Amino acid sequence: MERIFAVPLKGGAVTDVYMLSSMDELSGKLQEYDRSIFISDENASKLVERIPEGAVIIPPGERMKGWDSVSRMLSGALELSLARDGVFIGFGGGVVLDLAAFASSVYMRGARLVLIPTTLLSMVDATLGGKTGFDYKGIKNLVGTFYPAEAVLIVPETLRTLPDSEFRSGLGEVVKHALLSEDTRLWKFLKENHDRIMARDSEALSEMIRLSLEVKIWYITRDPEEKKGIRSALNLGHTFGHALESVNGFSISHGEGVAWGMHMALRAGTALGITPENFREQAFSLLSLYGFDCRYPIPDDGFPAFMKAIHSDKKKKGGSVKFVLMEGQGRPVLTALDDAVVRNAVAGFN
Ligand SMILES: NC(=O)c1ccc[n+]([C@@H]2O[C@H](COP(=O)([O-])OP(=O)(O)OC[C@H]3O[C@@H](n4cnc5c(N)ncnc54)[C@H](O)[C@@H]3O)[C@@H](O)[C@H]2O)c1
Repeated sequence: MERIFAVPLKGGAVTDVYMLSSMDELSGKLQEYDRSIFISDENASKLVERIPEGAVIIPPGERMKGWDSVSRMLSGALELSLARDGVFIGFGGGVVLDLAAFASSVYMRGARLVLIPTTLLSMVDATLGGKTGFDYKGIKNLVGTFYPAEAVLIVPETLRTLPDSEFRSGLGEVVKHALLSEDTRLWKFLKENHDRIMARDSEALSEMIRLSLEVKIWYITRDPEEKKGIRSALNLGHTFGHALESVNGFSISHGEGVAWGMHMALRAGTALGITPENFREQAFSLLSLYGFDCRYPIPDDGFPAFMKAIHSDKKKKGGSVKFVLMEGQGRPVLTALDDAVVRNAVAGFN
């Protein structure tokens, strides 16, 4: 087991990130947490040989990301008589981890928290940064806290059982990190190791995750509470992507939406003279290498619904929606866009 990062947090706390080579190694590490509650879902928990006593295992899926699940976790902790020094261990994808982290943040005003991500998206995106929460009255992540984990344990081997669509969803975020990094290592690694990554070779995944996390850490440590606009760069592709997801009735995955959205942001950037055309082309070619279809146009009659979805994006601030555009690799800029620029970006391919 190797500690790959010690991420500094507000108030001098640190999240230690460990890379583990196998589930056996994880079992050994978990022995250290004797006063704990294990939280997972019905899919992820299949990866564990022996589910700890008193564990809370919820059905899978975003629809479970609500107060009832949190309540089950708090009741479970109480039944185990956990005190404030007890550990909430989240084992699963972003849904399980956001819920477990929220529950731990409010249990006795804050219990200990260890996160074990088992989807690519949660490994590269959902475990660092301290965002916790659940959906309320149909609004995603309406209720939440900032509460970073004391440790994040990553076992790339767990990705072997992940469905392809979920794996690709995570890859969309990895490509996003490559675009957002001034350092070219992740981009180069993705270009040169496509086959190993797609074959889910643990060593290749481990390196890809490490490089991807480096980028996320760079952004979150400069803006831990998302107050300076730096961390907002991590929303690259998200405003366009969420709108596409919503007009498609959420039938496309989050990663597909983000990949498409990144390309739309690059197209809008080139139209405005912000993004160099050769950078857009290189990014497009990386997205295509990983099989993302980024040429899907919004038809004219779908545009009003698309714009409605854009304007209801929760990142709306002060009445206008800020888009993340790119001046080049690792150089994001936040800007409002006229509807006409958005329309030209999402229509008129070829
Ligand atoms: N806190 C943050 O900073 C942050 C960042 C990004 C996303 N999120 C949240 O993460 C959630 C999405 O996370 P996700 O994409 O991991 O989805 P998810 O948690 O729903 O997992 C996707 C599916 O994969 C299954 N699964 C998980 N691990 C598996 C494995 N190893 N093998 C087989 N199946 C497995 C799950 O049961 C589920 O069916 C959203 O709710 C989003 O809001 C949070």
